[in-house]
Amino acid sequence: VTELRLGVLGCGTVGAAFVALLAERRAEIRTRTGLDLTVGAVAVRDTGATRAVELAAGILTDDAAAVVASPDVDIVVELIGGIEPARTLVLSALEQGRPVVTGNKALLATHGVELLAAASSAGTDLLFEAAVAGGIPLMRVLRESLVGERVRRMLGIVNGTTNFILTKMTEEGADYGDALAEAQRLGYAEADPTADVEGHDAGAKAAIMAMIAFRATVGAGDVHTEGISTVGTDDIEAARRLGHVIKLLAVVEEDGGAISARVHPAMVPVDHPLAAVRDSFNAVFVVGDAVDELMLYGRGAGGGPTASAVLGDVIEAADHVARRTTGGLGPLADVPIRAIDDTRSAFFVRLAVIDRPGVLAAVAGVFGAHGVSIRSMEQRGSGGEAQLDFITHVAREADLRATLADLADLDAVERVGTCLRVVADE
Ligand code: NDP
Ligand code: HSE
Repeated sequence: VTELRLGVLGCGTVGAAFVALLAERRAEIRTRTGLDLTVGAVAVRDTGATRAVELAAGILTDDAAAVVASPDVDIVVELIGGIEPARTLVLSALEQGRPVVTGNKALLATHGVELLAAASSAGTDLLFEAAVAGGIPLMRVLRESLVGERVRRMLGIVNGTTNFILTKMTEEGADYGDALAEAQRLGYAEADPTADVEGHDAGAKAAIMAMIAFRATVGAGDVHTEGISTVGTDDIEAARRLGHVIKLLAVVEEDGGAISARVHPAMVPVDHPLAAVRDSFNAVFVVGDAVDELMLYGRGAGGGPTASAVLGDVIEAADHVARRTTGGLGPLADVPIRAIDDTRSAFFVRLAVIDRPGVLAAVAGVFGAHGVSIRSMEQRGSGGEAQLDFITHVAREADLRATLADLADLDAVERVGTCLRVVADE
């Protein structure tokens, strides 16, 4: 049996759940793996605060740097979140040759390249399964199972808070604010929930997904990000009428030697597997050349599921320490990032127009002039103002934007309303 001690930084939603899970699973893990894992130290901000887990006497401290530097700590588990002091602590641990397990997507998406390089030069592990899609084993699948696959595209519902809010709004007609407050109460939301609702949390995860799937130096700054705060009940109703549901999607693609990474709300056809992903559940739909389509589904947020992902990584790191080896991702390439204007999608477009002869022809003419082909159109209302809901075939984003600008200039168009991307099988 190899005995290893963990230094856990952070004992909030995930940290406390992790310490509790390890205590519960320790004996079984020892039997299964020959590793005896104990928590040697837990660092927090406020040692006087009440904790959701019982901690052994004397292990709680407010000195995270001392935990990282302690010769008694074999593996560092960073569950503080945010950039600093997490970055300095993680770097320091790696530079001392200590493996690090973290669930910190913000850190990975901004400093992942630097941290992976530090781990590689120190010959140790940096593992971050929990950083993307909580309890879903996506990173390990991309690193190991799909290592030989040419992944082309991934569509992910990777933020539990926004999926929970959209589900409540769609199925119960819930108010946006109430649904967000409930997601916060359930421990899904980030400390600042703006990161969830404005798509920054999903954007960080998209960067990490692209980095690992394409072995490329993609960072948060490369991801085009739109959130759900502009999605209204009208949009949800329009999607329902057209046989779709609205989801916040992270999309990463590699095509023609360039990578696109983006996060935005999108209409998903009800018969697409992602449409069935409800509440705080996450899922990632992967398309690869040989594997074709596969989908991973599970809980994307919350203490227990995230702690499960952290524990899997801790056991992998511990096994590597015991066997004096490391994992490693191989080199990351600098690949060009495709601008959002050059990406392609189908679109939903809503227009308020004056209901008189010739208007539809004029509107259709603008779409046509920009090479945007209309797949379907539905008119509602008449005798005055009418509402036109279009779904287009797949078009270049810049062409659609130019179409919208010209439509706004038409006399008969009173208002260009919602424009949403649509997941289309073309
Ligand atoms: P919490 O805010 O619940 O917990 C953060 C913990 O870090 C607290 O215990 C806090 O101490 C401690 N902390 C803060 N600053 C310091 C510091 N300077 N030194 C030592 N400890 C410090 O966050 P979560 O548990 O929700 O998230 C942790 C990480 O896991 C984040 O990176 C998050 O993005 C990620 N994650 C979270 C998920 C979730 O569902 N919550 C899911 C997947 C990933 P104190 O308690 O004293 O304030
Ligand atoms: N705030 C995140 C979410 C936690 O809602 O998905 C998981 O990363």
